[in-house]
Amino acid sequence: MREIAQAADLLDWYDRHARVLPWRTPPAERLAGVAPDPYRVWLSEIMLQQTTVAAVKDYFLAFTSRWPTVADLAGAEDADVMAAWAGLGYYARARNLLKCARVVTSEHGGVFPRDHATLLSLPGVGPYTAAAISAIAYDDPQTVLDGNVERVMARLHDEHTPLPAAKPVLTDYAAALTPDQRPGDYAQAVMDLGATICTPKRPACGLCPWRPACAAWHNGTAAELPKKSPK
Ligand code: ADE
Repeated sequence: MREIAQAADLLDWYDRHARVLPWRTPPAERLAGVAPDPYRVWLSEIMLQQTTVAAVKDYFLAFTSRWPTVADLAGAEDADVMAAWAGLGYYARARNLLKCARVVTSEHGGVFPRDHATLLSLPGVGPYTAAAISAIAYDDPQTVLDGNVERVMARLHDEHTPLPAAKPVLTDYAAALTPDQRPGDYAQAVMDLGATICTPKRPACGLCPWRPACAAWHNGTAAELPKKSPK
């Protein structure tokens, strides 16, 4: 199948070029079969909503050294967590973070649920975060769609329908490519591709593992996609 080969090309690229980020399992551990810690996956995904990777790194390290497990975070004083969050912005995220840590600790024995509907019921966990936890922490082949992924899909398919109307079709494109093998690495690989190669301005198509398959590259339209409806 073409989709499987395409996902494999991206995973090959990821194995060589993945960004080293504090919430990722280091490659040697990953190859040795060490499973990701769902607490760290969840915490990083909440912090990364509306906030850049560069801004999140130090906060992630500070939180995980002070509260190494979800039960530790659940037992924290509200004021300490809010103070540690100061500077990251969108403070509703921090309030939901604490609520979620307490629900996971008191109702789920300190283990993040795997089931999609149960994940979605947690405070602060929406469809994006639930899919990211399922894929990255539990290797369930869920499709993870953020702004980076939308841009990559719009270009791959030379999709000129503007956002947000294009969202359903971009979701379909992304779902068709999501592999059963290593879906967590694949989700993070598409994010890395969008952040480092398939950038909003001046994409580095010469370095892209998906260039042969990319309709926008063939048509010379990559830099103008995705289109956006005027607000
Ligand atoms: N943005 C959101 N989640 C991310 C992740 N796991 N890695 C890199 N960038 C991200």
